[in-house]
Amino acid sequence: MLAPQGVTMSDAIESLLKENRRFEPPAEFAKEARVTSREAYEALYRESVDDPDTFWRRESEALVFRTPWTKTLEWNLPHARWFLGATLNVSESCLDRHLSTPVANKTALLWEGENGDTRKLTYAELHRQTVLLASALKQLGIEKGDRVAIYMGMIPEVAVAMLACARIGAVHTVVFGGFSADALRDRIQDSQAKLVITQDGASRRGQIVPLKNTVDRALEQPEAKSATKTIVFRHFGSERCTVDMKEGRDLWWDDVLASVTTECAPEVVDAEHPLFILYTSGSTGKPKGVLHTSAGYLVGAHVTTKYVFDLRDSDIYWCTADVGWVTGHSYLVYGPLSNGATCFMYEGAPNYPDWGRFWSMVERHKITILYTAPTAIRACMRQGDAWPAKHDLSSLRLLGTVGEPINPEAWIWYHHTIGRGRCPIVDTWWQTETGSIMLTTLPGAAASKPGSTGLPLFGVVLDVVTPKGEAVGPNEGGLLVLRKPWPSMARTLWGDDERFRQSYFNTIEGCYFTGDGARRDEDGYMWVVGRIDDVLNVAGHRIGTAELESALVSHPAVAEAAAVGRPDDLKGTALVVFVSLRPGFSADQALRDQLGEHVAKEIGRFARPDVIRFADSLPKTRSGKIMRRLLKDVAAGRESTGDTSTLEDFGVLAKLRQDED
Ligand code: WTA
Repeated sequence: MLAPQGVTMSDAIESLLKENRRFEPPAEFAKEARVTSREAYEALYRESVDDPDTFWRRESEALVFRTPWTKTLEWNLPHARWFLGATLNVSESCLDRHLSTPVANKTALLWEGENGDTRKLTYAELHRQTVLLASALKQLGIEKGDRVAIYMGMIPEVAVAMLACARIGAVHTVVFGGFSADALRDRIQDSQAKLVITQDGASRRGQIVPLKNTVDRALEQPEAKSATKTIVFRHFGSERCTVDMKEGRDLWWDDVLASVTTECAPEVVDAEHPLFILYTSGSTGKPKGVLHTSAGYLVGAHVTTKYVFDLRDSDIYWCTADVGWVTGHSYLVYGPLSNGATCFMYEGAPNYPDWGRFWSMVERHKITILYTAPTAIRACMRQGDAWPAKHDLSSLRLLGTVGEPINPEAWIWYHHTIGRGRCPIVDTWWQTETGSIMLTTLPGAAASKPGSTGLPLFGVVLDVVTPKGEAVGPNEGGLLVLRKPWPSMARTLWGDDERFRQSYFNTIEGCYFTGDGARRDEDGYMWVVGRIDDVLNVAGHRIGTAELESALVSHPAVAEAAAVGRPDDLKGTALVVFVSLRPGFSADQALRDQLGEHVAKEIGRFARPDVIRFADSLPKTRSGKIMRRLLKDVAAGRESTGDTSTLEDFGVLAKLRQDED
């Protein structure tokens, strides 16, 4: 089966045998829910597949289209075009449409800094800031279709920056603030971004992460020369965070906004006009620039936010994801704002100053919906029940998870200790490429099963198949594929349409291949077990093994490197790398530290390996391919059960096992 990295099919089958608990929607919740029964969900689902035009027209009624679409879909594999003929500006649906309603004065973003500072921006204020920045961008020469990189932390201005780009039809590419200068440079180069929006620094565990300095180091490099300007938001006073402003290149956000002389009207764009590029790891070393367009993406983010979170006017909704990942795009910005929701935003570490931080914020801000990652849940669970027990969590009414499979123990803890048994849990499966949630159990409509990501959402036609493309039976493991296009699907990879086809449409004829393994149970519920390609999911972050390996071999000491995942109680998967050295380098702790630093510099700190093991050589097939499957077994400390007959030299494997730390 392909080249299993994260999980194998036997893991899938094992998962199936373990979990059979069901949690019916709490009656109190179900009574008021948007969709109140499985039958009601099935009816909507059927309509979305059989009559997509009626379905999507009705469900996107609240959104602003300057001209309605004339054709719902044009599918020319691998290219889908949705809502043809429609024109719009995404920022109008997120902001302007609320201005003539009471939502204008409702809090759009409720922010808390790590040090406890808070800020509130109403929809009217968010609109004002966005219009000003959009005008400023135009004055600086940014035009429709130009790319703008955003390298910021979790502050309201990051949403302003994204929406301002959308307003003038510029394409944003948000780069997670944990990425290194080199990773930022690569993304600027690939997207040919003309301008970078950043901030002096961001808070993390009582320290200041100097974002602007990192931008400086990226822009010093000739590869990033397309970016000739930066706009810098001042988040701290100059005494706390000094920045070098380069004359003629760097501009302060406040100055830029103050200099706006004309107010720009929103740029009305075609449904398929690019909205953003978001880079994500793939099976080869180079990150993929996933491209999302305007109407389809907006409709997907809008409709899923409304239904999956069963959103109400009175909700205080908190998605803990960083805006640098797709979850932050769809469920912190575009989805909730297009629904007029109040979004809570937190800048800082979840355990700062202590493990009560999340729960204290839930209590103080009366959060009603909490959407987070299994890694965060497991980390909190490990600290015991005393932290959440100190806080009144009765405001919560719905919980969600995303990013990686959740183990049933963590699910049950989340349900009992955080949700106090009252809140449905939505386990949501989706990807950067899918743009919006694809699988979940709609709260109120369907029972949850801990560890299952539930049923397909509207317009999602999926299947579990063998590598030859044949559908498998209930409870059999296979490849998770999507058989039909859906509105928020990625349209291509920026600058590399061939790779788009190769990556997603070459594995199974006529289908989009997700890279995940899954099974479907007798109830139609999906159990996603994780990646079966060369991508690892570490604490909910996608890391390509090839990307990590090429970072390692770019270090002068490294001859060869192989990265594999090892099951980890906290992170889901831990990163283990095996490294063979060039002559003249000694395999010691100092070198290990250096290699860890090197990866942090090349990619970012979050990609630092958990374990670095030195090896004289790596196990290979006779044709010279590294046998990762065996390394995975060594990393996990288990015997290899699979076929080793193609292994060239058994001595290598024996030696690796002997060297186990
Ligand atoms: C994994 C994050 C199990 C999966 C939104 C997918 C999940 C990859 C879940 C996409 C879930 C995401 N259960 N696995 N609920 N959600 N995944 O692009 O392997 O950062 O392919 O998007 O995360 O990661 P990405």
